[in-house]
Amino acid sequence: MSQSTRHDFLLAMQTRFACKKYQDKAIPKESLDAILEAGRLSPTSFGLEGWAFHVIQAPRLKEKLTKACFDQESVATAPVTIIITALTASSYEPTGPFVTQRGSRFPGTLVDFVADYEGYYYFLEKEGRIDCWSRAQCYIACANMMTVAASETIQSCAIEGFDEDQVAQIIKIDQDIWQVSLLITFGYPAEPFREKIREPLKNLVTYYN
Ligand SMILES: Cc1cc2nc3c(=O)[nH]c(=O)nc-3n(C[C@H](O)[C@H](O)[C@H](O)COP(=O)(O)O)c2cc1C
Repeated sequence: MSQSTRHDFLLAMQTRFACKKYQDKAIPKESLDAILEAGRLSPTSFGLEGWAFHVIQAPRLKEKLTKACFDQESVATAPVTIIITALTASSYEPTGPFVTQRGSRFPGTLVDFVADYEGYYYFLEKEGRIDCWSRAQCYIACANMMTVAASETIQSCAIEGFDEDQVAQIIKIDQDIWQVSLLITFGYPAEPFREKIREPLKNLVTYYN
């Protein structure tokens, strides 16, 4: 990575802020495509990509989604909200169709892939952590999507304040198969940049040399 690329990346992170109110202005298709591409390129455990991105733009759905998010203004005013859903534990069985399809894409045999994967799967299953593991990965896509948006001068806000059943009904997902991980609103801000409040690195980092 060149120094200027690194600088651009950190600049996008520095200029991003959690936007609570957006202008009534559409996001260009190329920018939305770039945001979605950032989600698609994000890493997942074992490369399984157990997620889906639902793009909400229609005013009728936006209204319902706002209610499902406890009337948050960020959702009410955003021209685009992306809901990231994650597969539930039901799909991650090592010999099931989902893992078979995903595992078959990699170099090497499916047998080798499953042999590698199943030890971790049974460990997570024993701990009751599969749903949580699946859901957590969506946060990586979320972070990358927000940073790419900021590089296009588009602001965003991650939204964890929502009623999961209501959101699931809006996008008509089968909750035995899919869970709602989180939402992200996107748009051009109708409020000034909010300064970052962050602890200095010295309070957060321990080096073990
Ligand atoms: C996972 C996650 C969930 C969040 N959920 C909400 C939310 O439901 N409503 C909201 O107004 N802000 C939400 N936020 C925004 C945070 O409050 C905000 O990112 C944080 O205060 C830091 O501010 P900054 O993003 O402007 O740097 C969420 C942020 C994250 C990362």
